[in-house]
Amino acid sequence: MRLNFLSKENKKKEVEEVVKLVNSKKVKPKKIEKKQKKPIKQNVKNRRVELSRRIKSGIPGLDELMGGGFLPHSVVLVTGKTGSSKTIVSAQFLYKGIIDHGENGVYITTEQRADDIADDMLTSFGWDFHKLMDEKKLSIIEIDPGNVRQLPYLVKQKIEEINAKRVVIDSTSMFSLFFDDVFETRRKLFSVYKILKDMDIVTLFTAEILEESKGLSRFGVIEFMVDGIISLQFIGIAAKFKRALMVRKMRRTDHSNKIYPFEITNKGIIVRKI
Ligand SMILES: Nc1ncnc2c1ncn2[C@@H]1O[C@H](COP(=O)(O)OP(=O)(O)OP(=O)(O)O)[C@@H](O)[C@H]1O
Ligand SMILES: [Mg+2]
Repeated sequence: MRLNFLSKENKKKEVEEVVKLVNSKKVKPKKIEKKQKKPIKQNVKNRRVELSRRIKSGIPGLDELMGGGFLPHSVVLVTGKTGSSKTIVSAQFLYKGIIDHGENGVYITTEQRADDIADDMLTSFGWDFHKLMDEKKLSIIEIDPGNVRQLPYLVKQKIEEINAKRVVIDSTSMFSLFFDDVFETRRKLFSVYKILKDMDIVTLFTAEILEESKGLSRFGVIEFMVDGIISLQFIGIAAKFKRALMVRKMRRTDHSNKIYPFEITNKGIIVRKI
């Protein structure tokens, strides 16, 4: 408006000043704002790429039920009653990870001796864990009351030592026997969980549920912590019990809510279509 009252000369000056002002530092914040927004957009893009990257479970028929596999950086609970195949699922996840994807693995066992696990897997499925351990592709750590307090440190050290991408803790239920109370057990599990979440790996926790229980784990807290839950079940059909599984939770994934039968074959577990 002010320009209307100015002479031609002054008008020109005024316009030049405005142009100068537009090109001056005063308008630069717009550019800075743009620059600041870019990384956010980039982050969203990276996150989408990250979500589309899925880690194969190694169990035929399972990945299709959970958007193509496990999410990177995730911790998944494999839960079920005794004899429901938690150890086989865990061992298959590690074995196939090494053989099919070149991803090394760490197996933390609170229940069985390392040699016994390796012998069982060789006898049942022909998976040579002894060889993989010799080749430094697989590490099996036995956890007992004597070394349980060093668990977070031990896990990190072993992962770094063999550059592992897959970890199993079988079983988290036994931790209650190592600590004085439930609070201490949860605290220790949480500190391990935090270490694992910060690394570029996928972890399976196994948890046993008691025969009469309707819960998903013994402490009733681990299920809220984890990114996913695979529930292994026995289902009575006529006079027989059949093995079945269900993806009970998988964050950021449109997963199947159905119960699928699975079989233990001489090549490991196979999830059947329904
Ligand atoms: N080669 C095989 N063929 C068929 N079934 C098998 C074979 N090997 C093991 N099993 C079955 O797998 C079951 C044990 O599976 P697994 O040890 O994984 O269970 P789990 O859930 O870890 O049990 P727990 O809670 O006691 O540790 C056994 O009941 C056995 O019948
Ligand atoms: Mg077991």
